Amino acid sequence: MCPKLSIFAIIAITTISVVLAATNNKRFPKDFLFGTATSAYQIEGAWNADGKSESMWDNYVHNTPGFVADNSSGDVACNSYYQWRDDVNILKEMGVNHYRFSIAWARILPTGFSDHINAKGVKYYRRLIKELKQHNIEPMVSMFHWDIPQALQDLGGFLNPKVADWFADYARTLYELFGDDVKYWFTFNEPKTYCNGGYGFAYNPPRIPSQGLKEYECSHNLLRAHAKAYRVYDEEFRSKQNGQISIVLDSMWFGPASNTTEDKKAAEQAFHFELGWYANPVHYGDYPDVMKSRIAARSAAEGRNHSRLPEFTAEEKAQLTNSTDFFALNTYTGNLVSAIPEPAITDPPSRFGDMGVNNFYDKSWETTTLDWFKVAPWGMRVLLKWVKDTYGDPAIVVTENGYPDHGGLDDAKRLKYHRDYLSYTRDAMIEDDVKVFGYTAWSLMDNFEWASGYTQKFGLYSVDFESDDKTRTPKSSAKYFRKVCKTKCLVS
Ligand code: NOJ
Repeated sequence: MCPKLSIFAIIAITTISVVLAATNNKRFPKDFLFGTATSAYQIEGAWNADGKSESMWDNYVHNTPGFVADNSSGDVACNSYYQWRDDVNILKEMGVNHYRFSIAWARILPTGFSDHINAKGVKYYRRLIKELKQHNIEPMVSMFHWDIPQALQDLGGFLNPKVADWFADYARTLYELFGDDVKYWFTFNEPKTYCNGGYGFAYNPPRIPSQGLKEYECSHNLLRAHAKAYRVYDEEFRSKQNGQISIVLDSMWFGPASNTTEDKKAAEQAFHFELGWYANPVHYGDYPDVMKSRIAARSAAEGRNHSRLPEFTAEEKAQLTNSTDFFALNTYTGNLVSAIPEPAITDPPSRFGDMGVNNFYDKSWETTTLDWFKVAPWGMRVLLKWVKDTYGDPAIVVTENGYPDHGGLDDAKRLKYHRDYLSYTRDAMIEDDVKVFGYTAWSLMDNFEWASGYTQKFGLYSVDFESDDKTRTPKSSAKYFRKVCKTKCLVS
């Protein structure tokens, strides 16, 4: 618990500074950024208003009854397209330093291409950004949070190699329109979940199960798109706009199931297949060696002439190398990992065969309302340290971390989740010298949780989806987060 900064505490802090600095590990630096996050399709609604075209999610949900758990959609969601002032008000109420939201590509470029810019869509984001800045809330903007315009999906979406140029063009439009005010950009949100959801396990649109094949192609094109968008900024905007760009990568933490060398190696391998898959290319210009060699070997055993993992050209490698200005990390849970004998070759191939380890939850960990999600906060420190050690000690911002339940204002478990994850974040900063500069709670408010619809809630604020004004009400966790933002300290 942090001491109140009374005169006595100040004297105590200054006199026994070394000891205190080591033990008072619940206080964050003054310039540490606390914020919350959302995304366009999950909150905006107004799916076809003011010139916005259909996104892949609009299209898929409208045409696939029964896909979303409660048969709902993001058609109205939190109605943020009309109620963005309410969103800014609750951000102010919490006293956050930043707000991470996404821009809907189909709202700015309804055809997907920059030949037609939708002025009303531009106005919406401009007003939101201005209002945030007026209240000293730093906008952190994702260019893509899964809602590709349907017009581009019809052309193959992220399986079409041209997507890299489409995206770079869209990014250029965003820099031109908003770059004077936006200093933190994210090209993509969670490429792994986007490509695995769409083309691997296929639990999200377009739901084409093609593990280890189209899934790798999707990721490959997405990484190429990221690199191009980053270079457009470098070459045309950086000197005038002075912002920073990253890509939001998601990973759970992985810990060896035992102390054996084999299990330690297996945990390392899991990290490379989950996080290194994207983080290696954007830092070092190529996929991790272990991915390249394992997938090449398994592809050969399947009788293929080429590895299922696509190759970057020399030019792409150069564009990808060091194509982030800081590390942006989403994390929610963790897994233990053990070594296993080489998995059998399967047809169709399996990405977990490629990964070649066994990963699982420990049965003793606290469960939540989502199957894939157990609470294991100590791993936050493991994950942050792994990023530091593997990617040259980058500055890191946690861009998402949050807890699911079925709703209710008294959300003691969510409050504890954020406190514990923050506490281990702070430990990583103090004990391991990891350079974390911000933490973003997912989410500002309850919203459309993709295929789970409104059945799973992550918000610090609850939203009454039945009410006309989509009333936002703070939960206990929001009140706690307000104290944390104010004191920069993990108060109890
Ligand atoms: C990650 C995604 O970025 C976000 O859209 C989603 O709602 C949360 N995780 C919770 O599942």
